[in-house]
Amino acid sequence: MNTPILSTRAASLTLDGNAGAIEILKDITLDVMEGETLGLIGPSGSGKSSLLMLLGGLEQATSGEIHAVGHELTGMNEDQLARFRRDHMGVVFQSFHLIPTMTALENVAIPLELAGAPDAFDRAQAELEAVGLGSRASHYPSQMSGGEQQRVALARASAPRPKILLADEPTGNLDGVNGEAIMDLLFGLRDRHGATLVMVTHAPSLAARCDRVIRLRDGQLDQEAVSA
Ligand SMILES: Nc1ncnc2c1ncn2[C@@H]1O[C@H](COP(=O)(O)OP(=O)(O)OP(=O)(O)O)[C@@H](O)[C@H]1O
Ligand SMILES: [Mg+2]
Repeated sequence: MNTPILSTRAASLTLDGNAGAIEILKDITLDVMEGETLGLIGPSGSGKSSLLMLLGGLEQATSGEIHAVGHELTGMNEDQLARFRRDHMGVVFQSFHLIPTMTALENVAIPLELAGAPDAFDRAQAELEAVGLGSRASHYPSQMSGGEQQRVALARASAPRPKILLADEPTGNLDGVNGEAIMDLLFGLRDRHGATLVMVTHAPSLAARCDRVIRLRDGQLDQEAVSA
């Protein structure tokens, strides 16, 4: 656990709003170690989701550097970023983000197929079984509960065995029981596959399960709150 797999150096994100440029993230310098589980907390609007987007190559830093899995993300074009995400990142969102016109099996298999897996559908079926949804493979997202949809999203994110799993309030839209089940699955996937996990959460019980928790405040890291 002593090599950083994700690093940011003075990373900032500025977006153009109606009233001019808005500084969303300011001067973020952070190392995430291989195999670490990092919790990201902070008030609404403090920049947690934005930081996750930078770490995952879903958004480009305005200045500073982002290094991930030995790649420098800053300066990559859209195609390079898309390939990087496909090869190294699994992302889970609060609102599942499944493709509504695809079955559960297709939602998991298509990204595998795009990544060149010859046995994408067999592997996708096994991934669905691993999250307890083997019998729901032919169902569409609209036919599934929120907890079930999030389990499909977890299967999809972990199927390519990404080195890094990013999760943005993965239990935010679920009740306590379903949220617990998702967290157990997420930590189980991390344990089985050795992924590094960065997770945004509002739930103290989830933060308590992380190796380290950092807090954002107004787009900056709150150094006093950083715990080891
Ligand atoms: N595309 C955008 N254009 C302009 N401002 C944005 C954009 N996306 C986010 N913001 C602003 O950036 C700030 C950080 O947003 P972000 O979504 O990262 O916060 P968050 O910590 O994830 O909040 P929450 O807990 O509510 O999810 C907010 O002030 C938000 O309004
Ligand atoms: Mg957010």
